[in-house]
Amino acid sequence: MKIAVIGANGQLGHDVVRAFTDQGDEVCSLTHEDIELSSLESVAACLGATQAEVVVNTAAMHHVEHCEQQPVMAHEVNVVGARNLATATRDLGSVLIHVSTDYVFDGTKGEPYVESDEARPLNVYGRTKLEGEHFVRDINPKHYVLRTAALYGNYPCRAKGGQNFVDLMLRLARERGRVRVVESEFTSPTSTADLARQIAALSRSDKYGLYHATAEGSCSWHAFAGEIFRVADVPVTLEVASPNEFPAKVPRPAYSVLENRGLKSHNLNRFRPWQDGLHTYLSEKKLAVASQQA
Ligand SMILES: NC(=O)c1ccc[n+]([C@@H]2O[C@H](COP(=O)([O-])OP(=O)(O)OC[C@H]3O[C@@H](n4cnc5c(N)ncnc54)[C@H](OP(=O)(O)O)[C@@H]3O)[C@@H](O)[C@H]2O)c1
Repeated sequence: MKIAVIGANGQLGHDVVRAFTDQGDEVCSLTHEDIELSSLESVAACLGATQAEVVVNTAAMHHVEHCEQQPVMAHEVNVVGARNLATATRDLGSVLIHVSTDYVFDGTKGEPYVESDEARPLNVYGRTKLEGEHFVRDINPKHYVLRTAALYGNYPCRAKGGQNFVDLMLRLARERGRVRVVESEFTSPTSTADLARQIAALSRSDKYGLYHATAEGSCSWHAFAGEIFRVADVPVTLEVASPNEFPAKVPRPAYSVLENRGLKSHNLNRFRPWQDGLHTYLSEKKLAVASQQA
């Protein structure tokens, strides 16, 4: 199949390109230099030239504080951009796989969110992503909207411009020997490699719709850090930070665990427990370091 991947040089985009290439598909990698989501002209021309049967959009404005500071731009990219993609892919007859977020929820449910739960975003990022979802679902019937969470992978997240949570924990442990992490916020840490494989597999189905797409299981950020240190065998003192110790500048859901109910109901769920994804990530990292040193 012919696949276009938007945001191909991003954290998730890199792995999506790889997953489709491994599957034997012909992939057209599109970066921000090739396509501007907020311009219908750019989106239609760029996608028209690729003639892709499936378009995967990993691009977004997703730095939570930046979205709050620049709501007009967040709207242009996350809402108008999604509408442009939905319009252009519908006109081309292509399938659109659009990545969204757990931040569409307010985090008060106290148990995993399913696709039918009411979304009540707490911030500009969540609100604009939710509006974008609505346009995709309303305009292109051949859509998959995938809500995911807490991504980490081998390539840096461009929007956050630094290390992912796993690498940050390993660095802090090395530099300080003592790390403090909150125990009051819960998520499902999801490896971009696992999400990318799920996206590639889903592209072969015709079960269009809205799906939750995160690693199986959930944990607090403190438990996530504990597992990182255990698997990486790093000597460190891990302490519980008080909920107010790292005050968030923008409100975020404290509990945004997603249940992949839709994927499971169609027997399409390919996700492993979050611990397994972490294990693979850390093993590959260790091998990469060893080969650099050899
Ligand atoms: N990271 C997470 O923890 C997380 C959690 C839940 C959901 N998500 C969602 O997952 C997706 C992928 O995240 P990621 O971590 O892979 O992000 P990333 O590394 O920041 O990549 C985002 C990509 O989008 C491109 N982009 C930004 N604005 C654009 C525009 N107006 N037009 C065209 N391209 C544009 C960026 O290019 P430039 O950098 O060159 O501008 C970059 O290549 C996003 O939709 C995000 O909302 C992420």
